Amino acid sequence: MDSLAAALWAGLHLRTVLLGAAVFLLLANFLKRRHPKNYPPGPPGLPFFGNFFLLDFEQSHLAIQPYVKKYGNLLSLDFGQMRSVIISGLALIKEALVNQDQNFVDRPVMPLRGHFFKTNGLVMSNGQVWKEQRRFALMTLRNFGLGKKTLEERIQEEAHYLVQEIEKEEAQPFDPHFKINNAVSNIICSVTFGERFEYQDDQFQELLRLLDDVTCLETSLWCQLYNVIPRIMDFLPGPHKKLFKYWDKMKLFVAHMIENHKKDWDPDKPRDFIDAYLKEMEKHGDDATSSFNEESLIFCTLDLFFAGTETTSTTLRWALLYMALNPDIQEKVHAEIDRVLGQSQQPGMAFRDSMPYTYAAVHEVQRMGNIIPMNVPRAVSTPTTLAGYHLPKGTMILTNLTALHKDPKVWATPDKFNPEHFLENGQFKKKESFLPFSIGKRVCLGEQLARTELFIFFTSLMQKFTFKPPDNEQLSLKFRMGLTISPVTYRICAVPRT
Ligand code: HEM
Ligand SMILES: *[C@@H]1O[C@H](CO)[C@@H](O)[C@H](O)[C@H]1NC(C)=O
Repeated sequence: MDSLAAALWAGLHLRTVLLGAAVFLLLANFLKRRHPKNYPPGPPGLPFFGNFFLLDFEQSHLAIQPYVKKYGNLLSLDFGQMRSVIISGLALIKEALVNQDQNFVDRPVMPLRGHFFKTNGLVMSNGQVWKEQRRFALMTLRNFGLGKKTLEERIQEEAHYLVQEIEKEEAQPFDPHFKINNAVSNIICSVTFGERFEYQDDQFQELLRLLDDVTCLETSLWCQLYNVIPRIMDFLPGPHKKLFKYWDKMKLFVAHMIENHKKDWDPDKPRDFIDAYLKEMEKHGDDATSSFNEESLIFCTLDLFFAGTETTSTTLRWALLYMALNPDIQEKVHAEIDRVLGQSQQPGMAFRDSMPYTYAAVHEVQRMGNIIPMNVPRAVSTPTTLAGYHLPKGTMILTNLTALHKDPKVWATPDKFNPEHFLENGQFKKKESFLPFSIGKRVCLGEQLARTELFIFFTSLMQKFTFKPPDNEQLSLKFRMGLTISPVTYRICAVPRT
């Protein structure tokens, strides 16, 4: 009897405590969750979680459509403690990212990213750190051949290796994923590490797989929950722990590369980004306020490696799919290549203007692929007013690029792959509503590199192969949601053209 009473009492006690805690949390949260005056409207959310469960983690860029219709071009959503506003429409996106660029230049500080990157790196850093690191990265990328013949030649050489690698498949069905990843990654690796990796290098292939897993893991429900309740999630096992482990492995790889560089480092002869960075660190030596230190080097290199690999290769994987699914369009690309380059000339940027159809096809792949549908999140850096609404500092800002890329007022056939969208009287035509690299002060740092890579890799592959679905297999446009939208695993046949 005694022990029963004790158990009951303990149970009751526990329930009281829990109940009290829950009420306290809700109350504290209710007070916090109230929006400031004149804040953009949005759907009501749950206490604590806000609109978290509106996110459809399989296809988060599609789930909110009814609310945009109801609330308009500035829509507020709360994810836990994080207040976010979604901006739609070209005019308003440009008002924020271009005209008011100083007010929207930050990235949100999110627990999941913060846990690993702290305030380091290029992609998620803010303030003085971001300014210094971005300026240095841009300058160094230029010094190592961005926009010059040298880097273009590197891309041409790599495209040649990729063609050779694909020829080995002898027109049989194969999954092009990691061959393309490897080729694309080798370009940024040449810049950051001063070397490329063989397609047979098991260690590097494993790294590429880690990178691919991270892309997918990071936006999963479980990992995003970390952004809402980090302190609780810290105690729980699950995919977020796997994510941290994978990031750690990639960090270790970069750290190892840096150690190797130090062994034969010659400050007068920088070979690559790491060498140049080591020199910059020395220059700032005793300056405690400088953001150039070894930790920062690791994270900047990791950012370049990650951002420079995943995006461009995903786009190329979409390109092969769209070609195989649209043989008539593929034929037109082939015809232009045969006319301008033939089989023997190496594709290069000098030919771009005389190849409007191919150039338009690459743009159309990016429009339809739409791999970063809501842009990379920004944050309000200075309290400001947009479309008459007040936005406090720290508000997360998402811009709906999908709406631009699928706007029926801009594109003749918004849902159909059609290079004519970028052509007028046979000439290439730029479109204002095409913003895959975003716009403004934080525009993609690798835009020029990516454009060169896309054109040369795409043209080189199309020069040598016809891409077809395997016999009795259907190719689909099904996608996988992650940091980027990528095609689900597919097999394809690359039939040599000669
Ligand atoms: C098809 C390829 C690519 C696409 C679609 C793409 C797209 C984007 C987008 C949308 C952003 C966010 C910009 C913003 O906040 O306004 C971004 C940022 C960034 N991208 Fe790319 N990107 C591509 C390739 C590359 C490559 C090859 C590199 C390698 C150098 C790179 C490096 C970066 C970096 C470092 C940032 C962060 C910039 C910052 O926060 O200041 N990207 N990219
Ligand atoms: C973004 O725009 C697309 C296309 O108009 C729409 O379907 C989608 O719901 C929008 N998403 C958000 C989150 O605003």
